[in-house]
Amino acid sequence: NWRLTNYIDQTVEEIREKVGDQKVILGLSGGVDSSVAAVLIHKAIGDQLTCIFVDTGLLRKDEARKVMENYGEHFHLNIKLIDASERFLNRLKGTSDPEEKRKIIGNEFVAVFDEESHKIEGAKFLAQGTIYPDVIESQSVKGPSAVIKSHHNVGGLPEEMDFQLLEPLRELFKDEVRKVGEELGIPHHLVYRHPFPGPGLGIRILGEVSEEKVKILQEADDIFIQELYKNNLYEKVSQAFVVLLPVKSVGVMGDERTYEYTAVVRSANTVDFMTAEFSKLPWDFLEKVSNRIINEVRGINRVAYDISSKPPATIEWE
Ligand code: XMP
Repeated sequence: NWRLTNYIDQTVEEIREKVGDQKVILGLSGGVDSSVAAVLIHKAIGDQLTCIFVDTGLLRKDEARKVMENYGEHFHLNIKLIDASERFLNRLKGTSDPEEKRKIIGNEFVAVFDEESHKIEGAKFLAQGTIYPDVIESQSVKGPSAVIKSHHNVGGLPEEMDFQLLEPLRELFKDEVRKVGEELGIPHHLVYRHPFPGPGLGIRILGEVSEEKVKILQEADDIFIQELYKNNLYEKVSQAFVVLLPVKSVGVMGDERTYEYTAVVRSANTVDFMTAEFSKLPWDFLEKVSNRIINEVRGINRVAYDISSKPPATIEWE
């Protein structure tokens, strides 16, 4: 596609011109936007780019390992993996209010990123995967959802960080970012990943977060996502995940009575994420997912399917 290669070549030139021989830092999340931005900037300036990947301990199963494989090994990006799990989990101890949890996670993220970015000597630029809809959203008057749910990704960095911004995707829509990503050689399944919220599993474990609950949720969520891919359903839904409720119920396994957590399978279809309907996934598919989660994940003995639309429900549960 000549338009895409043109765009890429031109942007690569612009990045080189702007950056010169200076160093650039980028917060890599493993999501589509920051990954495409990273690979594009790396194409332009190679190892002048350092990516910082913060493992908050609230990521999906094996996320940090996969990011290191996909982008560190395969694309040779220079990535500093910061394992801050303990820090985040400790700070979250004793907190069950959703907004409080968001604040803690957001603040902690900024603190970790700030610390790490200052360890990279002489860095002049901070690169971000800001895309056109982010630009628009941050300019418009914040609606009620901005108040209900603080800490969205845009503008999440502290102002005292005196970097110059580098935002090569600022003019692109999501579908264009995906095309650029594929043109750069990023595998299709990575470029078409569902969005994942900044606070991560911290807002998908209702109430108080613990390491044990994170492990349980990671396993259950991984099974659901695997099955969506296997059954060619992943790209037919906009966002899918599992939520862990702090509610135990009675079940039976063999001759044993069980008393374990409840997981909720959530899948939404939407165009703009402002309104959404629950995905009408086939019964036999849901049956398979439920059986696998209950049989394979210790700590869950009941699975429910979320049939709420947005509004009045939101896509996430917190
Ligand atoms: P809701 O739950 O408000 O979610 O219907 C709409 C979309 O926004 C995502 N979301 C977030 N993304 N930081 C993010 O980066 C957040 O704090 C956050 N909260 C919700 C959610 O996953 C969905 O795609």
